[in-house]
Formats: sequence, C-alpha cells, structure tokens
Amino acid sequence: MRRLVAQTRLGVEDLIAPLFVRENIDEPVPIHSLPGVVQHTQDSLLDEVRTLCNLGVPAVMLFGIPGRKDPEGSEAWNHDGVVQVALRNLRDEFGDDMVLMADLCVDEYTDHGHCGIVVEGDVDNDQTLVLYQQAAVAQANAGAHVVAPSGMMDGQVMAIRAALDGSGHINTSILAYSAKYASAEYGPFRDAVDVQIAGGGDRKSYQQDPANRRESMEEIGFDLEEGADMVMVKPALSYLDIISDARSRYDVPLAAYHVSGEYAMLKAAGANGWIDETATMFEHLTSIKRAGADMILTYCTREVAEILRGTGSEPRP
Ligand code: PBG
Repeated sequence: MRRLVAQTRLGVEDLIAPLFVRENIDEPVPIHSLPGVVQHTQDSLLDEVRTLCNLGVPAVMLFGIPGRKDPEGSEAWNHDGVVQVALRNLRDEFGDDMVLMADLCVDEYTDHGHCGIVVEGDVDNDQTLVLYQQAAVAQANAGAHVVAPSGMMDGQVMAIRAALDGSGHINTSILAYSAKYASAEYGPFRDAVDVQIAGGGDRKSYQQDPANRRESMEEIGFDLEEGADMVMVKPALSYLDIISDARSRYDVPLAAYHVSGEYAMLKAAGANGWIDETATMFEHLTSIKRAGADMILTYCTREVAEILRGTGSEPRP
C-alpha cells in the first residue's frame, strides 16, 4: 500500500553514473576516499558501462585524469586526450543506447588545479571561455551527446553553444552546472582526479557561497537564457532548498549532483556500522527527488540499480 501511494519514486532511469578514466594505467586504481569507485582504464571503463547499460542506467558522466598537465589544461581538447578516446570507444559500442555526458572543465588538466587560466593569481573568466569552447568541440567530435560545463565561468554556456553550433554540433546538448557551490564536500573527488589547488587556494572566486539562496535562481536563469538545455544544482543534500526553488521556478530538466563527500560520509558511517547504509542511501536519494530533481548524479548508481533490478545482495526497499 505504501508503494502504491508513494508520492516520490526513485528509478534506475533517474540515475547518472559519474565515471573516472585515467591515462597510462594497466589496471583500475581504487580511490581511497571513495570506497568502491575506481579510476578506470579504457577497457575497464567499457566493462563498467556494459554493466550499467544492462541494468538500464540511461547515462554516464565522464571525468578524465590525463597523463600530462599544463597551465592551460590542453589535454582537455586534445583529439587523443583520455576522455576523447573514451567517448569514441563508448559511442562506437553503445551508439545512442547510453547517453554520454562529458564534464567540461580544465581543473583535472591544469597543473595548478584551477578551472581556468590563472592570471596574477586569479582565474581570468573571459580567457577561460576560449578553452571551454575548444574542449566542447573536442568532446562533441568524439561523440558526447551532452557536454556539462562545471567551471562556473560567467558566459560559459553562451560561448560553448556558439562553438558547438559553429562546428556543426547543433544537436549536442548542454547540461550546465548552474548552481554550484564552493563546497567542502568535493574533497574525495579531488583525490579521484589528482587535483590539488596550487598554494592551498580555493574556488570561492567562481563558485557560489553556501550562504546564498536567491543567487542560485539568478545563475540558473542566466544559463537558460544563454542556451542551457538542462541545469544542475550541486551538491545535493545540503542544497535541497535550492533544488526545490529551481523546481518551482523553472520547467526544464533539473539534475542534482550527490557529490563525492556525500557518498564518502555515507560509506564511512556504513562501514562503521553506525547507520543502516542501504536504507540511508535510499532515503538520501529519494529526498533529492522529492525536493524536485529529475535526475541524480551519484556514485551509488550501480549499487542502487542492482538493488532496484533485484540483482543486488539487498532486498528491495
Ligand atoms: C570540476 C568538478 C568538480 C566536481 C565535479 N566537477 C570539483 C570542483 O569543483 O572542485 C566535484 C564532484 C564531486 O565532488 O563528486 N571539474
């Protein structure tokens, strides 16, 4: 009866799996602060996406760890860069059966760890847009269905849309990380992509202040005017009010990113036996949907999909 009258449903089709692919490794490398998540080789990435596809997961979001970093992050638009190779392999095998999303930023590719060109200690917004345009075209050429700018530069969506249209990629969609906060909850992700921000710096000059609520509606509004097809709120659980505001104000597809720190907290408490990990995981993800998200990026994707599909070790909740 409870299932029948439930007002929120969590399904496999709501989930997007963030996946890491690393250059120059022969075996997948576990990420210490993200138990169960690895840096993939090109081969193990294909295996993982096969499994996700069979489980009915509709989309993946790719992040690359390049063999070489430089001040501009030029591997982000190299034709043979790690994510471009992965996209070509995946598109060859899966065609349109799996939605291929590519995180579009340069922080994994720069030697200073910032999301753009650094000029006199600060990221230069406008010079950075050119880098994002190059990366967008490279990702679309390699087969991305969706590019997902995550750098929070002003004007990035308009710049990327123009570059995509100008190179013939009129059907490539943009999922904008629109309301992205300067959060402490990205810590494990930076282990996952081997990023340390130079000089102990932070991203407070381009990501949002957690104290600000109304500002997010401005940010989302700008991205939609500039041509975003879907928008995102990130992180998720500490920002359910933002998800709820966005849901009531905008009728576009809305994603929420259940980020690395949220996953790590769940896994750490679960491993200690301090919480019922599976029940908490479902409660968290259901709450993100209840707040108004249409889709959730989460490192729990495979585990949740296995449980929902009845192939996992836990009973269906
Ligand atoms: C930037 C990017 C970050 C995440 C996704 N894209 C890191 C950051 O902004 O510092 C974080 C995701 C997570 O914590 O799971 N390319």
